[in-house]
Amino acid sequence: MKKITIVGTGYVGLVTGAGLSDFGNEVTCVDISKTKINDLKNGIIPIYEPGLDELILKNTNSGRLKFSTNIEHSIQNCEVVFIAVGTPEKENGEADLSSVRSVAKTIAKNITNYVVVCTKSTVPVGTGAMIVNYINQNKKNDIQFDYVSNPEFLREGSAVRDFLWPDRIVIGARTTDAYSVMEDIYKPLYRNKKPIILTNIETAEMIKYSANAFLALKISYINEVANLCEKVGADVHQVAIGMGQDGRISSKFLHPGPGFGGSCFPKDTKAFSILSEKHGISMKTIDAAIDINEVQKVRMFDKLNKLLKFNLNNKTISILGLSFKPNTDDVRESPAIYMIKMIIENNGFVNAFDPVANDAMKVQFPKINYFDSWKDCCKNADVVVIMTEWNEFRGIDLKVLKKVLKNPCILDTRNIFSINKLNEYGFIFDNVGRNNIK
Ligand SMILES: NC(=O)c1ccc[n+]([C@@H]2O[C@H](COP(=O)([O-])OP(=O)(O)OC[C@H]3O[C@@H](n4cnc5c(N)ncnc54)[C@H](O)[C@@H]3O)[C@@H](O)[C@H]2O)c1
Repeated sequence: MKKITIVGTGYVGLVTGAGLSDFGNEVTCVDISKTKINDLKNGIIPIYEPGLDELILKNTNSGRLKFSTNIEHSIQNCEVVFIAVGTPEKENGEADLSSVRSVAKTIAKNITNYVVVCTKSTVPVGTGAMIVNYINQNKKNDIQFDYVSNPEFLREGSAVRDFLWPDRIVIGARTTDAYSVMEDIYKPLYRNKKPIILTNIETAEMIKYSANAFLALKISYINEVANLCEKVGADVHQVAIGMGQDGRISSKFLHPGPGFGGSCFPKDTKAFSILSEKHGISMKTIDAAIDINEVQKVRMFDKLNKLLKFNLNNKTISILGLSFKPNTDDVRESPAIYMIKMIIENNGFVNAFDPVANDAMKVQFPKINYFDSWKDCCKNADVVVIMTEWNEFRGIDLKVLKKVLKNPCILDTRNIFSINKLNEYGFIFDNVGRNNIK
């Protein structure tokens, strides 16, 4: 079992730390955010992620999982250091590697024994080589280190499950020592016969971007198909089922909606496109996926506008769902943000409710009205807009909804309601790729 430090205790770092400590390793999760670390020391979990609190509690109680703000000390005392800090989008769309560089600097200054430096953050191809050079140039001694790229594929909302039962583990390295340290760490998963892909650093970095961009591409593709379905009288869900039965296509990620959001796809597609441009390759499919996604958000607002007869002035619009997908409180790049912004710009009033993401959205939109239940949120509203497909919303009794609304009007951007039921209860509605406004 290894002594591991994880630098960056966000969605990826915290889940990784909890998971690796559960495998029996001795893990310290460190972060520059004192509030976050203090909360964790006091048993307060800073993010909503199903199953994470139990996993953290189990491993902090056993003494295998600790939290600290003393990054230097934690690095000096470990065998493997994971970099799991954010790599957000810069203004020009490139990945901002300033946090990664800052961690590399701290590592360079604090190497006291052979250590494996492993990057989990999503970083453009070539970053591993840059980190290795940087540490070599800034190290204060001759102590050796190895570098590994170990991209993370967990999905928010099912992150714990994804980490403990991944589809694959990708390990990019240059030495057999580094491979064996990593194989040792992931041994419990290896026993479950999870494929471990051993490759070089550049290939590992490339796998992560190629995978994310492909998933984004699938979403944009089905959104375009949905738009055409609306024009030709086809049902996009049945089209997706028909397509998905083909094993070469698979039905996953063929769900039309208001466009992809979240902390990964929007920034990773852009960074991938810029990286390819730098190398003189034009990624036209990825550029199209990005453009289609922007247009899709606008299309959703157009649908709302149409439902309200192009007059949002003083209308109350209830937004159900703020997070970019269910089972997470992450609102980064959520399609709900564009929708809310446009409603405000057009002088409408926003009522909002999300089962867990109200607080996160308050940071961006402190002045809209937040509610603690869908029913309160929809009271006397002119229209309700479903932005996130939480199970709680799938279960809404349309009879009750109709009673609380001022007008029986719904924009269902996630296609969670049955068209037959909406018709039966006399709703005026629109959705994505299934039906036009009656
Ligand atoms: N969130 C996901 O679903 C997901 C999935 C796979 C990969 N990734 C990638 O993993 C990386 C982390 O993503 P995230 O969603 O966990 O980010 P996050 O914003 O939730 O967490 C990043 C953490 O790093 C900390 N940090 C920043 N600079 C630091 C420094 N110099 N020293 C110590 N701590 C520092 C921040 O305070 C924050 O707590 C990104 O590159 C992301 O693209 C994310």
